[in-house]
Amino acid sequence: MVRVSNNLLGILNILTFLISIPIIGGGIWLSRQANTECERFLDKPVIALGVFIMLLSIAGLVGACCRVTWLLWIYLFVMFLLILLLFCFTIFAFVVTNKGAGEAISGKGYKEYRLGDYSNWLQKRVNGNWRRIRSCIQDSKVCKSLIDQGSETPVQSFYNQHLSALQSGCCKPSDDCKFSYVSPTNWTSTSTSSSTNSDCSRWSNEPNILCYNCESCKAGLIDNVKSDWKKVAIINIIFIVFLIIVYTVGCCAFRNNRADNSWKRYP
Ligand SMILES: *[C@@H]1O[C@H](CO)[C@@H](O)[C@H](O)[C@H]1NC(C)=O
Repeated sequence: MVRVSNNLLGILNILTFLISIPIIGGGIWLSRQANTECERFLDKPVIALGVFIMLLSIAGLVGACCRVTWLLWIYLFVMFLLILLLFCFTIFAFVVTNKGAGEAISGKGYKEYRLGDYSNWLQKRVNGNWRRIRSCIQDSKVCKSLIDQGSETPVQSFYNQHLSALQSGCCKPSDDCKFSYVSPTNWTSTSTSSSTNSDCSRWSNEPNILCYNCESCKAGLIDNVKSDWKKVAIINIIFIVFLIIVYTVGCCAFRNNRADNSWKRYP
């Protein structure tokens, strides 16, 4: 009866230990693979996360099975901080991703994205790192399918296409520029174009410039990040519930250790 929580905690920690191995492996693989700016800023956090989970699992495993009370105490303390941190991050993710969405335009199959619609915090992060993010988007060939269409696509069938947020923001000029269509990535500005939208002057038909400097491109990226964070936040809630269960089991094991120790001390 007394041993159940210790054994359960041991098993749970073997499980998280095993999970940490592919995470570390994935991080090392990422750092070897990385030849674009995109992947390079992901590998270190992934390796750090893997090592962190591995150390925590070892502490929990040794603490529970070998009845090392001080190790179990550290384990529980770190777990508590982790639950608190994840909880705050999840709330933050929901708040930050709450604002902003693409705008449907009548007669178009795609939506358009405005930077000002999104949370100020995300705008600042994206603006501050834009050079790096931009080269990342350029490498990802997000506009390639549109460039490849050439002038074979009639204007109406282009308007009916569904475009991803990044494609809509980065690969074509904004609708209110009123440019005239040659191909999805080739537009000519007309004399009637007198839009106040600053993106109109940022547009270039050059395949490696397009609208990569536009505010709409940043907005398209934020829209992507937004939906990713929503998914992460939902996975986080499941993870927090799992951690709270492990934490509760850990607390029982901690109590058992102390009880065992006091039995040893007063036989
Ligand atoms: C865009 O179309 C015009 C007219 O057909 C053509 O002269 C120009 O070379 C094209 N620009 C690019 C970058 O493809």
